[in-house]
This record gives sequence, C-alpha cells and structure tokens, in this order.
Amino acid sequence: MQSLTQHLTTLLSDTFAAAGYDRSYGEVVVSNRPDLGQFQCNGALPAAKAYGQKPRDIAQQIVERLPQSADIFADISLAGPGFINLTLTDAFLGQWLQTMADNPRLGVAAVTTPQRVVVDYGGANVAKPMHVGHLRAGIIGESIKRLFRFMGDDVIGDVHLGDWGTQMGMIIVELAHRHPDWPYFDTDNTGPFPAESPITLTDLEEVYPAASARAKSDPTVMEAARQATMELQNGHPGYRALWQHFVDVSVAGLREDYGALDIHFDLWLGESDANDHVEEMIARLQAQGYTSESQGALIMDISLPDDNEPMPPLILRKSDGAVMYGTTDLATIDLRVQELRAQLILYVVDHRQQQHFKQVFRAAYKSGITPPQVGLEHNYFGTMNGKDGKPFKTRAGGVMKLKDLIQLVIEAALARMAESHVADEYEEAERLEIARRVGLAALKYADLMNQRTKDYIFDLDRFSSFEGRTGPYLLYTTVRARSILTKAAAQGLEPGALLPPTVDAERTLLLQLAQLPDALRMAYETRMPNHMADYIYTLANEFNRFYNACHILSATDTAVQSSWLGITQLFARVSELVLMLLGIEIPERM
Ligand code: ARG
Repeated sequence: MQSLTQHLTTLLSDTFAAAGYDRSYGEVVVSNRPDLGQFQCNGALPAAKAYGQKPRDIAQQIVERLPQSADIFADISLAGPGFINLTLTDAFLGQWLQTMADNPRLGVAAVTTPQRVVVDYGGANVAKPMHVGHLRAGIIGESIKRLFRFMGDDVIGDVHLGDWGTQMGMIIVELAHRHPDWPYFDTDNTGPFPAESPITLTDLEEVYPAASARAKSDPTVMEAARQATMELQNGHPGYRALWQHFVDVSVAGLREDYGALDIHFDLWLGESDANDHVEEMIARLQAQGYTSESQGALIMDISLPDDNEPMPPLILRKSDGAVMYGTTDLATIDLRVQELRAQLILYVVDHRQQQHFKQVFRAAYKSGITPPQVGLEHNYFGTMNGKDGKPFKTRAGGVMKLKDLIQLVIEAALARMAESHVADEYEEAERLEIARRVGLAALKYADLMNQRTKDYIFDLDRFSSFEGRTGPYLLYTTVRARSILTKAAAQGLEPGALLPPTVDAERTLLLQLAQLPDALRMAYETRMPNHMADYIYTLANEFNRFYNACHILSATDTAVQSSWLGITQLFARVSELVLMLLGIEIPERM
C-alpha cells in the first residue's frame, strides 16, 4: 500500500506525463500553508525552467486536467508563481483512513527486497563502567534495529563488546600486582584454573579505575599492560582464564543494565570473537600486497589520490605484536559478511569515532573484505551534555553509573506523578512499575527526539514533565486513548467504521494519522529515529485537540460516536507502534 502522499504523487505524476512533461515533477508534499490546502505540488516551477515555459501556465494545465481524474479533491487551486494546492474531500479522507485501519501494518509497506542487516550498537566495554555515550548507542541503536525489523529487513543486533583492548592488560597487571600468588600469573601453569571467578563485578568497578590510573602515571606499568594485552591475545593460558572471568562477570552485569533499559541484543559478541580470524585475515592482506611495515608495525595504506587531508594508515599489528581496535573491527566485518551474510552493517557509535570507521571502511572496501554492494555506515551521534554544556556527569563530577541514572529518572517520574495525581490510588507495586516506564520514556524520548548527530542537554526536570514534548506526555496521551476505549466498551460501545470527518480537529487528526508511513520511511532511509519522535508528538497533539473538540462518550449520533471510537482506536494503534519502535514501553493505565 502506498502512503497518501505517494498516492497523490502518482496521480500528479500521471497528470504531468499526460500533459507532456516529465513524471518527476508530480511530487506532492504536505502543505506548509494549511490555510491554502492540505497538500501541495511545486513541480510546475522546475518544469517551467526545463521546458522554457511559464510556471503558471504549466500549473494551469495540470489543474485543468486534475478534476477529471477522480473525485478525490474538494479543492484545487493555484497560488503564487505556480504552486498547486490540493485539499481532499472528506469522503476520500475517511475512506483512506479506513483502509489504513483495516491494514494489519497500518498502511506501512514493507521493503520489497529485504536485506540482512547487522546493527552494531551498545558497544559497552568489559570491566569498564558504561558511560552516557554507551547509553545513547543503546537507545538509538535499539530504535534503529526495531525500525529496520519492522520494515521487513532481516536484522541482527550485536553489542560488539570492547573486550580485547589495553584495558584488559591493565587489569591483569593490576591484579598481578595485588595478588602475585594467584595461579593465573604463574607462567608455567597451563591450567586447569579455578572455575569460580576470583573477582566480582563490584571488585572490577574498583580495579579498573585504579589500574588505569597507575598505568597512566607510570610508563613501566603501561608497558607491562601492553605486554600483557599482547600475551592475552596470543593465548597465554592463565591470562585467558582470568580474562574469561572478567568477561562473564561483566556480561552478567551488562545484560541486567541493558535489560533494565529494554534493550536486547541478538548477539553478545565482542572484539575477541574476531581474534581467531585475525591471523588468517592479516595473512591474506599481506599476500594480496595491501600491507607494509613501518617501524616494526604492520600497516595498511588507505589513502586515496583525492584526499584533501592526510589519511593515516590503518595499523593492523603494533610492533609488540598486539592487534588494534581497527584490526578486530576489520576482521569482524569479514566475519559478518562471510558468516552472517550481512548486506548492510550499521554502526551506532558516537561521533568521536568517525575517523576510526572511515579508516576501517576504506580498508574493508579496498581489500575486498567488503564487496562494493555491501553497505557500511557509521550512524554516529553527538554527546549527551549536562546543563553546564559539558558531557553529563554526576554532581560530584564522576561518570554516572547507568543504574544510578535509571534510579534518578524513576524518582523524577514518581515526583511528577505525585504532583499531577497520576496513579495516586494504585497499589505501590503498580505505581512503581508505571514510574519505571514513565522515567524511561522521559530518558529515551529526550534522546530520540534530537537529530542523532547533534549534542543535546539532558534536563531531567523538563523531560519528565507530563506536558510538552516529552515521553511522559506521549504515554499519558496513549493511555488516555486506551482508557476511552475501555470505558466505551464497558458501556457496550465499540469502535466502528470511519465516517467522513466533519469537525476540523478530526480532519487534521486524520491527515496526521495518514502520514505514518512517510514518517517511518523517512526515519528508515536516514537512520534517524527523530523523524518518528517528531511525528508521534504532533500526532499526540492532534489527538488531544480532537479529544477536546469531540466529546466521544457523550455523542448522541451513534454512527458518529462509533466512528470517533474508530479514530481513537486507530490513534492508539499508531501510537503504540511508534512508541514500540522508539523502544518505549507503555503502562497499562496511569
Ligand atoms: N567499545 C567501543 C567504545 O566503547 C564501542 C564499540 C563500537 N563498535 C565497533 N564495532 N567498534 O568506544
């Protein structure tokens, strides 16, 4: 099924073609002057240039041909130098929305050629605390993953844990310093090693900062950490056994953290999973002549003749033998293409890694690891800042733990709920569950409503309000629609066939509902969930306007009443779909 604007575009394109012009001039968009018409087509202006005619003359010809095409339009007018304004008949609009309501996908067409898409998001690091950058990666990536899946692609979400870098060596060295007697550090010991982890997640939270501080202040410790990382990568049995404990302990904690955010990965792979593949890949790149040596390191030149700025080579292996972040990323692409049959890989990773991905992608295409038809995209995002404009921190200036942040948003939600008397009379457990959903909706919506490439300021007071452009407002509106339907059902009233709208608030709501497929398509094509976030906010406003103008439960005309209930139900379904695609859970009631 086409969207309404696509349908109108086809109609206008046919008309342009029938009048002897190129079809491409027939594009119809939602009008930015609703006072003049619901939709507009501006194609007569570029057509006039191309055909050496006056735009108004062309527009006039199109307008003259249009009315015969169908009884779709209530009004067609010409404005300014040659804009065509279009307004639909209420009958057509009502019918269109009925078709949408009858469609299980709410009129959103699935893609015609589904692709195998890998979404690489989350990206938390083993043994290091998650920071707000990881939070954004999780929130935005989850939404992109859900959207691609809904559009019909075959999607795999992979967390791609950071588990193979120098931080691993730092922790090993730190623990060896504290517990020289542990069996993992005895070079002659090849195992087996204790099955029980010698450290807990809480230990790790203390060990990593200490390890990193010591390595940064003492070059010999840093050197030892590098050495340990290299030995770990090369299979030192004790280090591997200890490392496996860090991974297991961290992953258990991360599963909980991501789970609490309703973020779910299909694969829990990490940098280390590409390790077994690295040697083979490097050998292949060497054999193909893509590599060279530089000061003992193995590098790959990825510069292009027309680079404006120098492009540093990709370092595959350092002089000490350790592989780099870029190497594991390149080997991971190789595996994703060969084993997962990926046709498109989306990296939802913060903007500071643009250079990294540029390098890795170039290396992948240059070496043929990625065939030209496979897409690699860095869908980067900006920083979540505090009110001071600097990256969001705790009051004390430290990195905020995810658990603490979630606690903070839930508390804000509880306070707002009390203020607005939401869920006042419910049992404690339900009120807490509502607060959890409201708090997370505040957090996620605040993130997703911004164009992802931009930084934004996290302002909990504003984001947790039940009014304005916020997650809680969207939940409240959706729950309200559901509750009208429940109340109606209790009175034996069911949603029915949609009649042509008669009230202006109803008409604009229908027009906004009809734009769902366009909003999703836009978000899908640009990989930008904010198009969905914008859409659902406007839609919620239109619904509230409709709700205030049309007193559904006290309506006297039963056909009108059941049509209004039909519209309410359609709104609820659309809102539930979009909020699901944003990764936002809706309370049963509020
Ligand atoms: N672990 C990395 C970090 O914390 C993010 C990983 C992103 N994904 C990737 N394939 N490099 O910065």
